[in-house]
Amino acid sequence: MGRLDGKAALITGAARGIGRAFAEAYVREGARVAIGDIDLDSARATADSLGESALALHLDVTDQRSIDAAVATASAALGRIDILINNAAVFDLAPIAEITRESYDTLFAINVSGVLFMMQAVAKRMIADGKGGKIINMASQAGRRGEPLVAVYCASKAAVISLTQSAGLDLVKHGINVNAIAPGVVDGAHWDGVDALFAKHEKLMPGEKKRQVGAAVPYGRMGTPEDLTGMAIFLATPEADYIVAQTYNVDGGNWMS
Ligand SMILES: NC(=O)c1ccc[n+]([C@@H]2O[C@H](COP(=O)([O-])OP(=O)(O)OC[C@H]3O[C@@H](n4cnc5c(N)ncnc54)[C@H](O)[C@@H]3O)[C@@H](O)[C@H]2O)c1
Repeated sequence: MGRLDGKAALITGAARGIGRAFAEAYVREGARVAIGDIDLDSARATADSLGESALALHLDVTDQRSIDAAVATASAALGRIDILINNAAVFDLAPIAEITRESYDTLFAINVSGVLFMMQAVAKRMIADGKGGKIINMASQAGRRGEPLVAVYCASKAAVISLTQSAGLDLVKHGINVNAIAPGVVDGAHWDGVDALFAKHEKLMPGEKKRQVGAAVPYGRMGTPEDLTGMAIFLATPEADYIVAQTYNVDGGNWMS
């Protein structure tokens, strides 16, 4: 018996990386998942690899019409939405003197507005269905503390932690638990891009920043997407019903709070 038997989940940005690992873990635990991503081809490939329990949806979390359409399609295809994971996000870095408005607007549109308006669209359905639900937002250790080159991404993830608190306190009366996961450094395509940006700004060899951040993790290495799946499953189960508006660090010991 799976811990998520019979549950229906919508996971944003699940075509690859951490979101893909969440989709795989949820299906292993008995859930059906809708994989919403701006990269529909990769979302389809991920859904195909998961068989009948998964479907792919085009979703751009910066576009309200796309949000409404994806939530309607996922609800119709799965019967309802019990679980939302707000996982889609993008990264950029630059010193304060070089941050562009375009970069700021893009990161806040995806990482912050995307999370808020996805929560709103799904919560409205959960409230109408009257069966409660679970919303899990992907924050980051970057939301706990600023970093010299990472002002905008750090601020966007601090906003996710704050939105999780406010939405958690507002929606608990409807039986909807809103919580967040704050990973540390997780290897994959996302961190390949981060490494390349640090290499440019800190004049490092490719791969050097990854080596540095991995060596600094108390556990002794960077995380893998699979390291995060246990928390994503737990927060979606009834065992987590009394957990409200929290952000959990899953980061090999990088941050304590
Ligand atoms: N990888 C890490 O080290 C790390 C650390 C802390 C937090 N996180 C967070 O975990 C989450 C997943 O990270 P990841 O490493 O798997 O990232 P990733 O870049 O591998 O995946 C992000 C996914 O989001 C999708 N996406 C981008 N813009 C979108 C949009 N407008 N609408 C819908 N989908 C969109 C992408 O196509 C991609 O599939 C993110 O919220 C990230 O900020 C990651």
